[in-house]
Amino acid sequence: MATTGEREQWREWIETKNKVLEEQLYALARQTRENWYGKDVYIRGLIEFTNYCKNDCYYCGIRRSNNKALRYRLTEEEILACCKTGYELGFRTFVLQGGEDLFFTDLRLARIVAAIKETYLDCAVTLSVGERSRKSYEMFYEAGADRYLLRHETANDAHYGQLHPKEMSLENRKRCLWDLKEIGFQVGAGMMVGSPGQTVECILEDLEFLKELQPDMVGIGPFIPHCETPFYGQKAGTVDQTLRLLAVVRLILPQVLLPATTALGTIEQDGRERGMLAGANVVMPNLSPSNVRDKYQLYDGKLCTGSEAAENLDNLKRSMEAIGYRVVSGRGDRAGYVRKAI
Ligand code: 5AD
Repeated sequence: MATTGEREQWREWIETKNKVLEEQLYALARQTRENWYGKDVYIRGLIEFTNYCKNDCYYCGIRRSNNKALRYRLTEEEILACCKTGYELGFRTFVLQGGEDLFFTDLRLARIVAAIKETYLDCAVTLSVGERSRKSYEMFYEAGADRYLLRHETANDAHYGQLHPKEMSLENRKRCLWDLKEIGFQVGAGMMVGSPGQTVECILEDLEFLKELQPDMVGIGPFIPHCETPFYGQKAGTVDQTLRLLAVVRLILPQVLLPATTALGTIEQDGRERGMLAGANVVMPNLSPSNVRDKYQLYDGKLCTGSEAAENLDNLKRSMEAIGYRVVSGRGDRAGYVRKAI
């Protein structure tokens, strides 16, 4: 638990409109990041392999009720072809992300993970396929998966209920995260900034939860409304609020892997660079086949071109160099991480 003093400090940082204080916060976050990771920026090749989803989250463009979404699934061969392209470009982490699509059974997913790990011995595989049983997660770990991303979305129960239909629960979400951690995965939690109903108190609860969970990664991006969801017309989260939160998370979890997310790059042209300067140290360019990229529309206007595209890695490298950082090849594990034996 955070002390009252700590919590008040978090609150001040999150709420401040004072540009001087903001700059101090970012400088402190950068210093902390550089103590652990120097100027290195880690890259992940993101493969969005299915946009089918059994869930109906109110914020998400690929929710099952969106019958305008053009659904697709990649085959195992297509996924492996993405990895080949990515490997040649220099990626040493592949993130398999998808909607909660039960066509991809545990066995199927485990086979895909094992095939990637057999072909690319020096690569890490990250899964991001939502809530499953502890047994499923164990199977993925045994197949060789290294990391797992599952944003908790909000750590406040009532707020969780405002974002999700009643068949989903914060309790199960947290159970998944604790299971993943116990099994030995490098685990990523995270939340959207400025989602409908989010208050400063909710954010403080998120921080409290992150402090307790001690995840290896935290994904934070602004909420952006999607026109085919119940949240169409709601306000988007802001860049500044996102940057302040990135910095505070860096200070609470000094060794955390913190991506400057696609959503941040979508709401502002130099969002990703500003994210780096507020303590982020990871970017996740899109490695999906180009004909499906525009179909993975979690929110309106989601970037999949420019530096967001894996094949434009040179752009990204230049933009990172311009702010004093350098993209490195390599798996980019969390500092000090040792894989737990099965
Ligand atoms: N705006 C911003 N982020 C979103 N996500 C889903 N829908 C939206 C949206 N409308 C995020 C969720 C999810 C991640 C894959 O994308 O936090 O965990």
